Amino acid sequence: MQTPLFQHLDPDVVYEPREDTFLLLDALEQDLISIKKSKPAIICEIGPGSGVILSALSTSLGSSCFYLGIDISPHACRTTNETFLVNKNGLNFDLVNADLVSCLKPNGTQMFDIVVFNPPYVCCENSEVIDSNDGLLDRTWNGGEQGTATLERLVPDLQNVVSPGGFVYLVAISANDLKSLDELMLKSGFSKTVVVKQRKIIGEHLHILRFQKKDNVM
Ligand SMILES: C[S@@+](CC[C@H](N)C(=O)[O-])C[C@H]1O[C@@H](n2cnc3c(N)ncnc32)[C@H](O)[C@@H]1O
Repeated sequence: MQTPLFQHLDPDVVYEPREDTFLLLDALEQDLISIKKSKPAIICEIGPGSGVILSALSTSLGSSCFYLGIDISPHACRTTNETFLVNKNGLNFDLVNADLVSCLKPNGTQMFDIVVFNPPYVCCENSEVIDSNDGLLDRTWNGGEQGTATLERLVPDLQNVVSPGGFVYLVAISANDLKSLDELMLKSGFSKTVVVKQRKIIGEHLHILRFQKKDNVM
């Protein structure tokens, strides 16, 4: 998968693609054949930031699929919109400026065949937070004490928004409690963790995790 153009991104307000982003792209590329075979109708990226992941998926899968990005940062929504335009991804996408999946109906929609989220995963005490840009830039990386505060809020809602047999791709680091994340996902009706890719970089051991929604969970 080619990295989309993102020169229009303003790094003062939007998370700039880096190792975690590119490892996620590599993992999706590795799974591309099975993703295509599963014929997804709607793909949702939570926290698209620059939009490069969603745009690369759109370039690879084309217009047979609808792409939805949900980001808490309006700057990220605007940047992702531009990334789609600059990379000529067509018009079958939409962006919502919201907190996780709070903008969706609470029950029974189960419409996403694939959900992707590179969440704020850095373990951080509240006292370490620097309130840059109304806190929006801090929210791109600050995952709370265990680094999983945002994921822990999302996971219980995932079973309501992912279709049976659908896939969830998450980015995590080994400093996060990966065992509890696995248990939380199992409790929410997903398969055990599959590590699609991992890479050690300075100060972090990145993991790209894949989960599949069990068929019988409605
Ligand atoms: C680590 S960045 C990842 C950006 C991009 N997906 C990438 O891989 O380069 C996390 C993104 O999640 C967004 N985000 C953080 N908390 C969120 C929330 N509660 N709801 C929606 N988006 C959120 C941030 O604004 C940011 O764009």
